[in-house]
Parts: sequence; C-alpha cells; structure tokens
Amino acid sequence: MNDEVFPAVAADAAERLAVHWRALAAAELPVVPSGPPGTTLKALPEEPPERGEDLAEILDDTWRTIVPQLVHWQHPGFLGWFPTSNSPASVLAELVTAGLGVQGMMWSSSPAATELEQRVCDWLARALALPQRFAHSCGQGGGVIQDSASSAVLVAVAAALHRASRGRWREHGTEGRHRVYCTGQTNSCVPKSVRIAGAGEAVRVPLLPGTHAMDPAALAARMDADRSAGRIPAAVVATVGTTATCAADPVPEIGTVCRERGVWLHVDAAYAGSAALCPEFREVNAGLEHADSYAVNAHKWMRTGTPCSVLWVADRTALTDAMGLTASYLDNPAGEPRTVVDFKDWQVPLGRPMRALKLWYVMRAHGLEGLRETIRHDVRLAALLAGLIEEEPGFEVVAHRLGLVVFRRDGDARTRELAERLTGDPGVLCTPATVDGRPVLRAALGSPYTDEAAVRRIWSTIRRTAAAQD
Ligand SMILES: Cc1ncc(COP(=O)(O)O)c(C=O)c1O
Repeated sequence: MNDEVFPAVAADAAERLAVHWRALAAAELPVVPSGPPGTTLKALPEEPPERGEDLAEILDDTWRTIVPQLVHWQHPGFLGWFPTSNSPASVLAELVTAGLGVQGMMWSSSPAATELEQRVCDWLARALALPQRFAHSCGQGGGVIQDSASSAVLVAVAAALHRASRGRWREHGTEGRHRVYCTGQTNSCVPKSVRIAGAGEAVRVPLLPGTHAMDPAALAARMDADRSAGRIPAAVVATVGTTATCAADPVPEIGTVCRERGVWLHVDAAYAGSAALCPEFREVNAGLEHADSYAVNAHKWMRTGTPCSVLWVADRTALTDAMGLTASYLDNPAGEPRTVVDFKDWQVPLGRPMRALKLWYVMRAHGLEGLRETIRHDVRLAALLAGLIEEEPGFEVVAHRLGLVVFRRDGDARTRELAERLTGDPGVLCTPATVDGRPVLRAALGSPYTDEAAVRRIWSTIRRTAAAQD
C-alpha cells in the first residue's frame, strides 16, 4: 500500500520542506526549541506499532512532534559550531539515493556508484586545486567519501600505523611504541581516533608562541626525542581551520619535518578546506604536496547535506593494505580486471551508501561558481559581523578567519554570562568555547539564509542581551 501512496506523500514531504525553508529564511521559526529535555520522548508512544500506519500520518507526526523540537541548523540565526550545509539539490539526491537503495561496497556490488564516486572525488580535487597525486585518474592516489572527518582521521591514522609497523603496531614487542602527533587545538575526533586505532594518547605538540598553530620545530624535537627513547613516530595530524579559532597549522614546515623522518602527514581541513574553491583563499592548500592524506567535509561548507566528508590519499595501497580484508563472499567475479576500486577497503565499515550522488547533484546544480559564491558570501558576512563587534566598546574580536568570528566581552564572567543569556534565544545560536583558558563565543557564518539583515539582527540581539547584563 505504501508503494502506491509514495508519489503523493513524497510530493507532500517536498512541499512541506519548501514551506519549512521559506519559514526559516523569514526567521519565522525559533533557531532552538523551547521544550525541556524529555519533551519528544514524552510525545512518542513507548510501544512500537504492531500494525503498519499510513505514511501520510507519519509525515504529519514528523511536523507535529519532531520538527518543533529540532535545532534549525539552516536558520539565518544559526552560528553554532561549524555549519552543516544543505541545498535542494542535495536533498533531492538523498531521496533518489535512498530510493535506488544500492550498496556500493565493491565495484561489482554497484559499478556506477563506485565510478561516480571516483569521478566526483576527482572533480572536487580539481575544483579545490589539490595536488594531482590525490586524483584517481593519476593511478596511485584517489578520493573516497567517508561519513565524517572523524572517520577520515581514523582511516588515515590506521593506514599510517600500518605503514609504520607493517601492520604489527598492536603486537607484543611493538605495542605502545607508535606515536601520533597533533596539538591541543586539534578537533576532539583526532585523539579519539588515535585511541580507537590503538596508539594510546595522541602526543600534543606545543604551539608557536602567540598562535594557535603547531610549532614545527617543537614537533621535530619531540619526534627525535621519541625515536631516541625507542618510540616510533607514525603520523602527524595537522589542522587547517581549527574548530575553536580556525587557526592553520604551518603545513609546509610540518610537511618537511614529516618527509625527512618518513612520517605520515594527514591534514584535517574539515571546515576551512572548502575555501580553496575560491582562488583567493587557496592559501589553505599550502604544503599539501607533502601530505599523505587530506580531508574536507563537503557537508560543512559545500551545500551538501551531512554526511559527506571527502578523504584523499596519495597512495591508495597504504589504505587498502590497512583496511582491506577479503572473504569468500566478497571475492570479485572471476575475470574482472583488478583495476577496479573496491571502496570497502578504503573505510571502516563494509557497507556503504551511494553518497557520491549528492555531491554530483550539488556540483552540477550549483556549478563551481555557485559554490564559490556561497563561500565568498559567508566570508563577507563574517567580516561584517567582526567589524560590528570591533566597533563596540567592551567587546573584543579574539579571532576572525574565513567565516568564523570568535569574540568576548571585557571580563570572563561577563562573557560567560552573555553566553548563558543567549542560550535559548529564539533568534541566535552561538557556541561558547574556551580559547587560551578564557571563555569566548564563536559565530560561524554558513546558513544559506543568513544575509546582511540577519547579521545586523543577530548583532543587535547580542548587544541588547549584553546591555541587559550591565
Ligand atoms: C577541524 C575539524 N575537524 C574535524 C571535525 C569533525 O567533523 P565530523 O563531525 O565530520 O567528524 C570538525 C567538526 O567540526 C572540525 O571542525
């Protein structure tokens, strides 16, 4: 029965989404829900239904029960964390992907899914002006769509540990000797990945004085000391666009340190990497010729819905050696040339949805020019907000890079109180954080509906809230 009603219900869902987007654009909805914890749980029956229900009714319930209790990441007042992007093209592709229901774990499990992914990863590598060796078309490297930057780091670290130990980093005798380096500014997913990969605690390298970026000399000294003590430096994770302040580790110098010591370099550019679509922001790519792997979240700043994180590697065999396992039921059909790519060997899970379709739709529907305009628009809005903050007595801009503005009030207690008072404001969501041990507020521009008027509205809310404190 559901098959028959699908076209009508899907059309209704599409219409509801279009209405929802219009309401968001007009800021008619609150950015955060007002219900206390447990609101949604209370609204949902404890028992699952025994008999099938109407899709139309389930859709109704979605708007009645779920939507009002969501944080609206596409709201013009949403400036939290880093953006999670979206667009009609991406949504349409997700629908088609789900409808086709294919599983692209191997080339033979869905040839077009694999080859489309190869092509769009190469397209994106070109669009971002990445080094040639990251392209599938060059034969040795290539890109793969992961669910998240966290998974990209985990896969890269596992490949690095595998390469450094010939797969034996957890064996008796070598266990606990391998080291992975990052900084205290690295995203939390990095130390987590290092732990999961079985290399203990990531080593935090000191920062260059007065910055939030890794000190390459300190990195070299730490690696050499570790080696002298019988440890094995296996990987460095550098960040371009840290989560707290959008700082960039000096990848060219870090790359030299890694190359001289034969250590894997992964560059995490989950947020800032998208900026390289615009030639004027290509400094984010500096030093990538040294990187063994590189990741950008298309779902952060490329109008592509989550999850969609693209990981490129310079040497695909390093990945497939670490992640590739076969079983009789995963053998490629006899006679199939081994030139094909089996993406199951480039990631942790076996199964994989066809995520490439949404990147393909998005790149085609927006064109590179459209995607560049998104970046430029958000960078302009961030500059506007930073300027408004700078002009205001008693406020300070702590960091301002690309679409991120980090700011505080004079006095930590006031900043903390401002953050608390803003929590739950229907018109604005900023994320509190700590920088150099002091509280700050982060404002990341990236909602498709944030425009100049919205930025001025957001700023007047922040000012009004601050004034009410004093
Ligand atoms: C620099 C950086 N790296 C990694 C991540 C983790 O991204 P994901 O949620 O895709 O794992 C984030 C998230 O904001 C980030 O800012």
